[in-house]
Amino acid sequence: MKKWLLLTIISAFALVLAACGGGEKEEGGSKSSGEEYTAENPLVIKFSHVTAIDSVKGQAADKFAELVNEKTEGKVKVEVYPSSQLYGDNDELDALVSGNVHMIAPSVTKMVKIDPRWQYVDMPFLFKDDAHVQKFFESEVAQSLMNSDKLAANDIKGMAFWPNGFKHFSNNKKPLVNVEDFKGLKFRAQAGQVLEAQFETLGAGSATIAFGETYAALQQGTVDGAENPYNNFDTMKFYEVQKYLSTSAHGRLDYAIFVNKSFWESIPADLLTKVEEALTEATTFAQQLAADENAKSLENIKASGVVEVHEMTQEERDALKEALQPVYEEFGETITPELIEGIEALQ
Ligand code: LMR
Repeated sequence: MKKWLLLTIISAFALVLAACGGGEKEEGGSKSSGEEYTAENPLVIKFSHVTAIDSVKGQAADKFAELVNEKTEGKVKVEVYPSSQLYGDNDELDALVSGNVHMIAPSVTKMVKIDPRWQYVDMPFLFKDDAHVQKFFESEVAQSLMNSDKLAANDIKGMAFWPNGFKHFSNNKKPLVNVEDFKGLKFRAQAGQVLEAQFETLGAGSATIAFGETYAALQQGTVDGAENPYNNFDTMKFYEVQKYLSTSAHGRLDYAIFVNKSFWESIPADLLTKVEEALTEATTFAQQLAADENAKSLENIKASGVVEVHEMTQEERDALKEALQPVYEEFGETITPELIEGIEALQ
């Protein structure tokens, strides 16, 4: 009698669960229609990043959230967590792999943990100008990075490239004009061995420091200098803790959008189409924004009056480029000749 009662209760419970979708909604399910999501009960995509809200990446991330909201009539909500608020450089990637966030947009060199080829971006003077970078984003060599098995093995899907800009050296000891000026200084590096080798080749030291901790490291003198696109330098207020900036344009800082693959594939197809449309539009927005924001930031930095900006001549840049050639000898094989030559061929 008791057994019969228990079975009845279990079956009734199973029926109720089936009627409610069996908890599938929480996970997004593999449904083709997301009709169970509403503006009051939306599917949430958590998007974490490390830069300021008004940075190139911050503005593009917010644009994406706004577009998703519009296109899905609020059924999908992108929660953007800027300024390392949720996760910083040290744990953002792990959080993506474990599904604690669903979307990140790291500076690509930070993907070195998964695939060292992403350090292509740090190879000195590899890119000629913004147009060259854009051609690369649209190229097959770029796709070979995005579609690599190494990402898939970590349950990551590469979605798009977003630009930021060229990096420039800064420090608070002296103007950086000639190669010799770098000797004995210590710089903050984002990640990886290529940047370490870059500074070593110039006779300088380096320390890998998370972006969110860089201001304090510069302020406290843990490091003397850094390398940033103008926009990051400006929106992080590094001008408050750096006296000299040289327009070296020696390397790039660009982003790729990565999502947790299992989560992404569980988004109902009708909503996914709209979310991906929004991402395409936000990518165009980022592409249109980056160069202008960097130009504006350079003006802000100059106007701040507290940073001495040295406009590097072509000869000074050429001397830096030549001095940095050993980095190619050391890392050409790791980055792979296909990638380096593929990028050079796009000029
Ligand atoms: C850095 O660490 O300098 C950059 O990766 C920050 C960013 O995301 O632009």
